[in-house]
Amino acid sequence: MTADTTAPPKPTDREGIAKRLLRGSAKASFDPLVEIDWDAPVDKDMWAVRPERVSLYGTYLWERLTDEQRKELSRLEIASIATIGIWFETILMQMLVRHAYDHDPTTKHVQYAYTEIADECRHTVMFAKLVEKLGSKAYKLDPAAHNLGRLFKTIAHGPLIFAGALFVEEVLDQFQREAVPDEQVLPLVRAVSRIHVVEEARHMRYAREEFHRDWATRGPLNRAYSRVILGLVAYYSATRLINPKVYAQVGLDPREAARVARRNPHWIATKTWAARKVVRTLDTAGAISGLGRYFWKKAGLLG
Ligand SMILES: [Fe+2]
Ligand SMILES: [Fe+2]
Repeated sequence: MTADTTAPPKPTDREGIAKRLLRGSAKASFDPLVEIDWDAPVDKDMWAVRPERVSLYGTYLWERLTDEQRKELSRLEIASIATIGIWFETILMQMLVRHAYDHDPTTKHVQYAYTEIADECRHTVMFAKLVEKLGSKAYKLDPAAHNLGRLFKTIAHGPLIFAGALFVEEVLDQFQREAVPDEQVLPLVRAVSRIHVVEEARHMRYAREEFHRDWATRGPLNRAYSRVILGLVAYYSATRLINPKVYAQVGLDPREAARVARRNPHWIATKTWAARKVVRTLDTAGAISGLGRYFWKKAGLLG
């Protein structure tokens, strides 16, 4: 656990970095509607994610499922994770609009915020189409998470906007980076992942940069408040990755399956693995401690 006294990273050239990110966006941005073959059929014999990453992998419920059901569950779980992606990208778009509202639009870093909003607009449509193609629905979140998301996107300030963004982006990114070269994974999932990995690399660079810059200016009270809210963001995002309704869709009891997944050491290890980079970044900055850290732990993000 790190204290408030952690030395902030050396000041960086905000405009210079934003300029490079804008140049990267001009060179490598993709329109998923054009790039991806949405009419290609989904091969039911393939996985949507490697089996070891499915939430029930290695449990007695996994043993009960046929190979066909396991593959269906992999498709539904990726659809569920994409739905959480849409949820958070929608939250992020609103937060970035609010962020830009307060700043000079002729600066490069604000122009990058607008560019990122445009990226996220395309991503949400891409993820929504993916959910449909995988044979799932965009299952609604439980009211507590849905309304806390509404509150968060309305009140979040500087460091929370970018630490929250970084958390969700890094977790999704780990799953997608692993999927891109994996030949047992559906070509559709790999194509979606490839686009997202390229564009999110810039978003994460931007989020890290803006988070550190803002965090360094905040006093102890603001930091303490931010740590608790950030813990809640991590908790609600990580514990909602797999909507229990997907278990019902493969014929399992959703409550039992959700309970088994929550305690599944493989699934906890997967979440810890997916969050390891962002945990390192935020923990080093002193943003994961106290009550906030309790939520990170409870969500299975610290092993
Ligand atoms: Fe995105
Ligand atoms: Fe993003």
